[in-house]
Amino acid sequence: EENHRESLMIVSGFAAKFFQESMWETDEGKSIGLSYFKERGFTTETIKKFELGYSPDQWEAFSSHALKEGYQQQFLVESGLSVLRDNGSLYDRYRGRVMFPIHSFTGRVIAFGGRTLKNDKSVPKYVNSPESEIYHKSNILYGLYFAKKAIRDEDNCYLVEGYADVLSVHQAGIENVVASSGTSLTVEQIRLISRFTKNITILYDGDAAGIKASLRGLDMILEEGLNVKVVLFPDGDDPDSYVRKVGTNAFKKHIDENKKDFILYKTDILLKEAGTDPIRKADVIREVVESIAKIPDSIKASVFIKECSHIMQIDERSLLSELNKMRLAKA
Ligand code: UTP
Ligand code: MN
Ligand code: MN
Ligand code: MN
Ligand code: MN
Repeated sequence: EENHRESLMIVSGFAAKFFQESMWETDEGKSIGLSYFKERGFTTETIKKFELGYSPDQWEAFSSHALKEGYQQQFLVESGLSVLRDNGSLYDRYRGRVMFPIHSFTGRVIAFGGRTLKNDKSVPKYVNSPESEIYHKSNILYGLYFAKKAIRDEDNCYLVEGYADVLSVHQAGIENVVASSGTSLTVEQIRLISRFTKNITILYDGDAAGIKASLRGLDMILEEGLNVKVVLFPDGDDPDSYVRKVGTNAFKKHIDENKKDFILYKTDILLKEAGTDPIRKADVIREVVESIAKIPDSIKASVFIKECSHIMQIDERSLLSELNKMRLAKA
């Protein structure tokens, strides 16, 4: 079992090397892959640190090289780097893409995200490794290996959506940043963060149509006893584009001036939506109290009850009795 996992990690490490060499040492890689990263504003230091690379735009460049070097078909396929054809031959999953290796907690490469360079809606923007014995998406945060020390030092973790967000924010000197990589946040990911800090600041894409949909999912962070703040970016911007546009200081300033506690943020959004309709407002109140009921620390919960009673203009005592009812129902 351990051997099996080790074999998958070895082949992934080999692939990361191959993609790096393909980028730094071939004409195609330099003119397409490297120049893409440079045009996006990533420095050589960032590109090297995160071991970014490029997959040649051919069907079998990686697979045939790996087989020639003695790597077994089984591990090439299980890691998702190669795909098995009906006729038994292998082809490359990643072709003509810039490559973002995904590292384990201890810095081993365990998976990849590959971004297309085409501006073509018919191809997926990112192709990611499939689940494997070494890569369980729901347990992984992109960038954690490079962020963990800073997360502990700063006692806060910035959570962003994408690979590029991690790179740009890290490059800007804000190293306590990880990405959920497109999937909605899981309990395992929260627990991973909570080993280093109890404070999460979520930096959402400004385009986030999914903000509302994610509101309920975030309750889970409260249940784990963490403090959650939310920062939005201007429409059309994500942390990557925004930090490149305004620079580190203005970026930090934006965060400081716009960070909002998750519960208050949620209350605001829901209240705005409900407008003046009293029945909808009652639903909002229940939903907010439901979130507050998930906070394990009862003193913290009562502080939120107080604040929300102001925002929602409703008597604190009735919120408290609603809270107690929910707590009893849960117990
Ligand atoms: P975004 O669409 O916001 O991409 O998806 P991005 O990170 O800003 O990418 P750039 O700036 O266009 O390069 C956020 C994250 O969701 C995952 C990736 O992890 C991406 O970074 N995603 C997105 C996928 O896995 N597949 C996709 O097709 C799109
Ligand atoms: Mn096994
Ligand atoms: Mn997005
Ligand atoms: Mn982006
Ligand atoms: Mn984005």
